Amino acid sequence: MRQHVNPLSKHFNKVERIPPLSEIYYNPTLPLHIDIGSAAGDFLFDLALENNNWNYLGIEIREKLVKNAKLKVIDKGLQNLYFAFGNANKIFTNLQWKFLISCVRSISFNFPDPWFKKRHIKRRVIQPDFINLLSNSMKKGSLIFIKTDVRELFDFMEFNISTNNNFKVLDNENFIYSSSFNPKKIQTKREKYVINKKLDIFERIYIKI
Ligand SMILES: C[S@@+](CC[C@H](N)C(=O)[O-])C[C@H]1O[C@@H](n2cnc3c(N)ncnc32)[C@H](O)[C@@H]1O
Repeated sequence: MRQHVNPLSKHFNKVERIPPLSEIYYNPTLPLHIDIGSAAGDFLFDLALENNNWNYLGIEIREKLVKNAKLKVIDKGLQNLYFAFGNANKIFTNLQWKFLISCVRSISFNFPDPWFKKRHIKRRVIQPDFINLLSNSMKKGSLIFIKTDVRELFDFMEFNISTNNNFKVLDNENFIYSSSFNPKKIQTKREKYVINKKLDIFERIYIKI
């Protein structure tokens, strides 16, 4: 079992400078998807290789994973994928990042750390303030995807997003993935594990209105 990183530790107050999109991506005008808690980035590598008509950005709080993922991007010569180190909750309060979030077409939270103990709930990534911040910066029509195998975490995330009046739930049963960031419904590492173990997956899609 890996050690969880405490996102509230002072160590994560520092925010990585993000270069302009024109320096990151070969074609900065492509739609942008952000995956929060991208771990080693396997999911985003699969997506970026498969869909060269999208740009992808992973945010991960474990620095070593980000360093390795950045090296792998160079090694594979991918020009539509970038990784940034930091606490997602802090990153978007930075002005430079606020601009970025206004360009985003969609954001995914795949299997976030559940932080089961009551006193640790404030460490969960989807907090009311964070959703407020996203709702103030994301443009109309942009999407949030959440997915987890933990029912209690799902209810917590669902409550925090749906109580924000700027987000509306979409019908994920009939959602058309072909024009989304993930047309082939590629699975994350955790998702493959959960499917293999035949556990339930709870998911929802929200649109900024
Ligand atoms: C359970 S793993 C899921 C990884 C991947 N999304 C998947 O589905 O396989 C959760 C990831 O989120 C990262 N994480 C947790 N809190 C974070 C935060 N506040 N900001 C950025 N990343 C975070 C963890 O370090 C970990 O890599």
